[in-house]
Amino acid sequence: MQTKIDEYKKEVDLFEPSNKEALEQFRIRFLGKKGILTDLFADFKNVAPDQKRLMGQLINELKNKAEQKLETYKESFESLVVVGNTFDLSRPAEPIKLGTRHPLSVVRNEIISIFSRLGFTVSDGPEIEDDWHNFSALNFPQEHPARDMQDTFFINKNPDIALRTHTSSVQVRVMENSKPPICTISPGRVFRNEAISARAHCLFHQIEGLYVDKDVSFIDLKQTLLYFAKEMFGEKTKIRLRPSYFPFTEPSAEMDISCNICGGKGCNICKYSGWVEILGCGMVDPNVFTNCGIDSNVYTGFAFGMGIERITMLKYEINDLRLFFENDIRFLKQFSSAV
Ligand code: DAH
Repeated sequence: MQTKIDEYKKEVDLFEPSNKEALEQFRIRFLGKKGILTDLFADFKNVAPDQKRLMGQLINELKNKAEQKLETYKESFESLVVVGNTFDLSRPAEPIKLGTRHPLSVVRNEIISIFSRLGFTVSDGPEIEDDWHNFSALNFPQEHPARDMQDTFFINKNPDIALRTHTSSVQVRVMENSKPPICTISPGRVFRNEAISARAHCLFHQIEGLYVDKDVSFIDLKQTLLYFAKEMFGEKTKIRLRPSYFPFTEPSAEMDISCNICGGKGCNICKYSGWVEILGCGMVDPNVFTNCGIDSNVYTGFAFGMGIERITMLKYEINDLRLFFENDIRFLKQFSSAV
């Protein structure tokens, strides 16, 4: 019996099936109901008592080997597509699930594309800023509340350094480093020390716009923003400018668009006013030009800044800002058709 088992073991070791059918034959021969192992276990009754222990061990070893072989090849055959006796290598592969662009990126790219059609370039600046670029050069008085620890993330060791609170800092860098005409937008992340809620976050995204040249007027600002609003929210969109205050623009305004959800009739998004605010803007304050080395007697300009989250929420009717940062696939995949 022992020699028989040794031979079977060798046979199992050397066995290399080339297809599923060969493997099935092997299973029937060794592990089937009428297979070799069943026979061996049946013969086991006739083994002399002093041999029983050894034989039992050998039969079990053979059984384990055969089962292992079967498992190893089963997996590799199951993962391949088999047609008849051959693998069909021409069959299309399983589709690979592609990720989708984040809604904030979709909208940022759309905004960039709208302004680039008007000749705006894209510029960039650091997220860790100094007081000069984030506040002082932008005409923020020393005691302005926006410098308060509550709004700004300062660096402990150096109160001159902070995480930028707005992309207006990039305006300063661009004006310091280039000569008019300047026509640029600056998308980027900004940070504020705010409690996180459905309407506020400590991290969000803005796009800043800046146009500086001779004879730039408020009419240019209004026309540029009207074009943007119509391209972004549809041809029927109206805009309205309300007087406001920003240290770096004079005059300053906030821009509303006619509510894109109810078309201006009044709904809970526009709080039944028919209008929703989307951005701040104004004519660049002469002090800012002087701070950046541009002659305010020769040049004028306009600037605007908008929150990408806000635009995205209005465009896609999203009511909770936190959804943008949770990476929930069920939320993100709804934007798969957008570019
Ligand atoms: N920086 C402003 C903010 O974060 C937005 C802003 C308003 C930007 C008016 C501008 C502007 O360029 O002219 O709230």
